[in-house]
Amino acid sequence: MSQKLNITVVSGSIRPGRQSERVVKFLTKETSSRGWKVNIVDPATTSPNLLTLRYMDYETQGLDAPQVLKDLSDSFSSSDAFIFCSPEYNFSLSPILANIVDHFKPEFARKPIGIVTYSISPFAGVRASVQLYSLIAGIGAVSVPASMPIPSVHELLNEEGIPQKEEMHGFAKNFLDELEWYTTALKNART
Ligand SMILES: Cc1cc2nc3c(=O)[nH]c(=O)nc-3n(C[C@H](O)[C@H](O)[C@H](O)COP(=O)(O)O)c2cc1C
Repeated sequence: MSQKLNITVVSGSIRPGRQSERVVKFLTKETSSRGWKVNIVDPATTSPNLLTLRYMDYETQGLDAPQVLKDLSDSFSSSDAFIFCSPEYNFSLSPILANIVDHFKPEFARKPIGIVTYSISPFAGVRASVQLYSLIAGIGAVSVPASMPIPSVHELLNEEGIPQKEEMHGFAKNFLDELEWYTTALKNART
């Protein structure tokens, strides 16, 4: 069933000791084992400044955009699908993830985005996921209805991103099957 898809995972934490690394490692393994090409945007190494001009605004104003925006635009444009991976901070989504996303829009148009949230509490970042559905609508993308909320992330995933409970693989499979369905359907529709 699996096809070769280009997918970008946008991660949402730059905190020292961040749990995001466990989640990204887990997602990298689960997606690459399906034969997908996975690109990770890690805001600790690749991050635009706080938003002033969107990437498209540089062109309309005859300005040269920073290289980091050019690179992200190229990479997002060549992606078939995305996973937005956000911790929950104060009942909200990750501000650094929102800042990256806000710089772009046409790059996401009519493409599917799967939502992965996590927290160290039992709530699994579900309040962040509610906001992510709105953000995704705002950029003209398509949110995949199935999300993957991860509670008590520090217990469910070890430092290598290996699940400490077998059912995590099943949750990931359901989520990624849905993402794949939307990716294939929308890719066909766009072409
Ligand atoms: C500023 C801040 C706000 C937080 N707010 C919440 C919250 O609203 N709900 C929750 O379940 N956990 C909350 N947490 C705990 C996070 O789930 C936990 O720190 C998690 O590890 C954050 O992901 P990260 O380590 O990848 O940054 C908060 C943590 C921080 C630093």
